[in-house]
Amino acid sequence: MPLIDGKKTAKEIREAIGREVTELKAETGNVPGLATVLVGEDPASAVYVRSKNKICKELGFISLEHTLSEDTKEKDLLALVNELNQNEAVSGILVQLPLPKHIDSIKILEAIDPAKDVDGFHPVSMGRLVMGTADLAPCTPSGIIKMLDRYKVEIESKHAVVLGRSNIVGKPVALLLLHRNATVTICHSRTQDLPKVTREADILIAAVGRPNMVTKDMVKEGAVVIDVGINRVDGKLVGDVAFDEVEPKASLITPVPGGVGPMTIAMLMHNTLKAFKAGS
Ligand code: GUN
Repeated sequence: MPLIDGKKTAKEIREAIGREVTELKAETGNVPGLATVLVGEDPASAVYVRSKNKICKELGFISLEHTLSEDTKEKDLLALVNELNQNEAVSGILVQLPLPKHIDSIKILEAIDPAKDVDGFHPVSMGRLVMGTADLAPCTPSGIIKMLDRYKVEIESKHAVVLGRSNIVGKPVALLLLHRNATVTICHSRTQDLPKVTREADILIAAVGRPNMVTKDMVKEGAVVIDVGINRVDGKLVGDVAFDEVEPKASLITPVPGGVGPMTIAMLMHNTLKAFKAGS
């Protein structure tokens, strides 16, 4: 089975980070700190943040958890972000998205000190990503590149097709692939004859949030297929790729769950460690 095991790859990365943290602690007495901020009661967000905090502790990081009510005022959230910017024990700040509708997410993301922007969502981080000088790249996109590298997938000169143009996944992963000399096509809801475009992909990345939308007629024989979708259908997690019918055509494919998801958290820890080392 041509599976990319994100769970195993993420575990290996976490273990390497854990070992480095132990060494840093012995040398300096200090460890990285991650502050997470969860606003409201979105159940999926609560699961993600809990998982981030748990792994933080497992790796020996300081974990500062802020859980705020749905009706938190924008100015109070801004004040918390400013406080975390000043806190020397905090190497990285993660404000879980989406935020409640009455809060301007852009304003909050812009308030985070770029040096602590472990999500890579600040406009300064995004600008550096465009220029190819980013220290902290968004976690899901950098997790995808890491997986491709671990599985020795050649990126240079390949045609990578990205489905989805979100700021969190589609746009940044397209840029990372471009910096690795892939030829990159970004597709979206207005793309004409989508199957014709996706069939040209050597590397196909699906990040649209529509269950099973990538079917076998859309995939070239031997393509590498990365499924970023996490959709809940009848209580079950499914990706954007119709796995059972696409898997026989793919040379490599990520499962859902156990593919991209665990890599995102591993890269968050990687970014937090990097921010810590840059600041100490
Ligand atoms: N919501 C969905 N994915 C992410 C992520 O990677 N970071 C944050 N902060 N919120 C998210």
